Amino acid sequence: MQDTIIGQLKETAAFIKNIYPTEPHIGIVLGSGLGNLAEEIEIEKEISYKDIPHFPISTVEGHYGKMVFGKINGKNVVAMSGRFHYYEGYTAQQVVFPIRLMKFLGVKTLLISNAAGGMNLSFKVGNLMIIKDHISLFTVNPLLGKNDEELGVRFPDMSEPYDRSLIIKAKKIAADLGIEIKEGVYAGVTGPTFETRAEYKLLHIVGGDAVGMSTVQEVIAAVHIGLKVFAISVITDIGIREEDNIITHEEVLQAAAEAEPKLTAIFKQLIAEL
Ligand code: HPA
Repeated sequence: MQDTIIGQLKETAAFIKNIYPTEPHIGIVLGSGLGNLAEEIEIEKEISYKDIPHFPISTVEGHYGKMVFGKINGKNVVAMSGRFHYYEGYTAQQVVFPIRLMKFLGVKTLLISNAAGGMNLSFKVGNLMIIKDHISLFTVNPLLGKNDEELGVRFPDMSEPYDRSLIIKAKKIAADLGIEIKEGVYAGVTGPTFETRAEYKLLHIVGGDAVGMSTVQEVIAAVHIGLKVFAISVITDIGIREEDNIITHEEVLQAAAEAEPKLTAIFKQLIAEL
């Protein structure tokens, strides 16, 4: 068994290619309550995380996860059904292992969705927000530690983590489909607590339009390793509001489910055009 990250990635990629030799060029990571795009895949192979060498071992009871390989609109994709969050107790390196693996499997473009709390005062629950940039204030950087140049450079540029041409394409797709779409900055936090009123306000003041507990570490690792990234947040709650501000996981999941068809439509069309 390999003990360097690069060795583990090579071993895991070889294991998967042995079972499923087709190269997916598009990788998909779907957020909480946003898994429906996976239903659109003409499935060719599914592999449970528990069967994949070097994948993080899930400690959460009833946790279920798998990599799904197949086609959407004729394009070969790999989707993670279930992502790893830092707040579950994984290390930042474990959280991004599947993202790096995607690169080793042949992925060029990574599509991400997440559920997020809105701080931009023009946002409403159910809005979709294209992530144009992020702020990693409280998240642990997955690139901490010795750098392996085979993965990427020591000091990666982060001036455009979210590919501008994909953003332009997605905005056009949304307009053609008649779907309202916002654009903004995603502030990444560790969770698992939702923010206090003062924290939502802080994150807004420093430039965040939405806040969530995933994505930032994945995007850092993706940019480091040379993947093009496109990401959308579904605004599932509004953090800054005057009245009672209690946010529940149920509320987040329900809002995500309601907005999901719009997200799925945009992703499907974007995949067709990649
Ligand atoms: N804060 C952090 N993460 C979230 C939120 C939120 O308000 N909503 C959905 N994920």
